[in-house]
Amino acid sequence: MHKCEIEFGKMKWKNPVTVASGTFGLEYADLFDLSQLGALTTKTITPLPKEGNEPQRIVETEAGLLNSIGLQNPGLDEFIRTDLPQYRKFHTNLIVSVSASSIKEFINMIEKLNVQSGVDAYEINVSCPNVENEGIAFGTDPEVVFELTSQLRKATEKTLIIKLTPNVTLITDIAVQAERAGADGLAMINTLYGMAVEVRTKRPKLHSIIGGYSGPAIKPIALQNVYKVAQAVSIPILAMGGITNSDDALEFIIAGASAVAVGTYNFVNPLCTLEIIKGIEDYCVRNDMKYQDLIGSIQTKG
Ligand SMILES: Cc1cc2nc3c(=O)[nH]c(=O)nc-3n(C[C@H](O)[C@H](O)[C@H](O)COP(=O)(O)O)c2cc1C
Repeated sequence: MHKCEIEFGKMKWKNPVTVASGTFGLEYADLFDLSQLGALTTKTITPLPKEGNEPQRIVETEAGLLNSIGLQNPGLDEFIRTDLPQYRKFHTNLIVSVSASSIKEFINMIEKLNVQSGVDAYEINVSCPNVENEGIAFGTDPEVVFELTSQLRKATEKTLIIKLTPNVTLITDIAVQAERAGADGLAMINTLYGMAVEVRTKRPKLHSIIGGYSGPAIKPIALQNVYKVAQAVSIPILAMGGITNSDDALEFIIAGASAVAVGTYNFVNPLCTLEIIKGIEDYCVRNDMKYQDLIGSIQTKG
């Protein structure tokens, strides 16, 4: 068997596959041994509990999914008390996704998590509004991303991953600032803005009117973002956006991603991550390639 081990920041992964934040929980452990994944990524945790948005919060469209869950989560203290001990049981890396509304709140969260065992990395979800920046999302302003990443870098030695939003004009600017400020890696992409209308009632299908769009429809968009960012930075990229099978995953890896995450498709096929791990390993064997050589091996000339 050809093992596709990788290093991502300070972590060693047994294979390059994880799950995207918010699309996978501990209940999947009833279906398969989660230790088989290269890493586990939690739902985004906020300093205080959040009930999330009112329903309707999920709408299926022709080729993707709209959601406006609104970061529903039990809050950091409850996460540390109840979820973290469960996550510790699995023999794989744990990436804790965090979000907050000010840099100080982000730092407080990291300081509380730093002293917990079993946390290997932080994924910084910069899609939420920043109270100090007129409510504009952290991830849309390169200077704010630089400042936040620099401060978090000082606050932790653990692997620091900045999750980028595609809802910006120049994603490479944001990526470069995150790298310059000391990020160990990037996760991309978060959802795109989307909307659906019920024509009979003329009402928006989501209660929040506009939501986040994900699933197979966004794969080409995610792929070009990953390709562009891979040309601009040298830190590893954890790619996501519409991955449903190993060929999808391989497209991202060839375009420059070091690892991949499955989000929406977990709802369709909860075992797809295992199929993707096997598919990537088989591809390396068939082509007699080391996984490391596959990363960014795209041929654009000639
Ligand atoms: C129902 C749902 C909930 C999500 N919750 C989060 C979240 O809490 N934090 C986050 O960073 N991304 C969240 N996302 C975005 C995913 O992690 C991922 O970036 C995005 O869906 C693209 O991947 P996909 O097309 O494979 O789903 C969520 C996506 C969905 C569909």
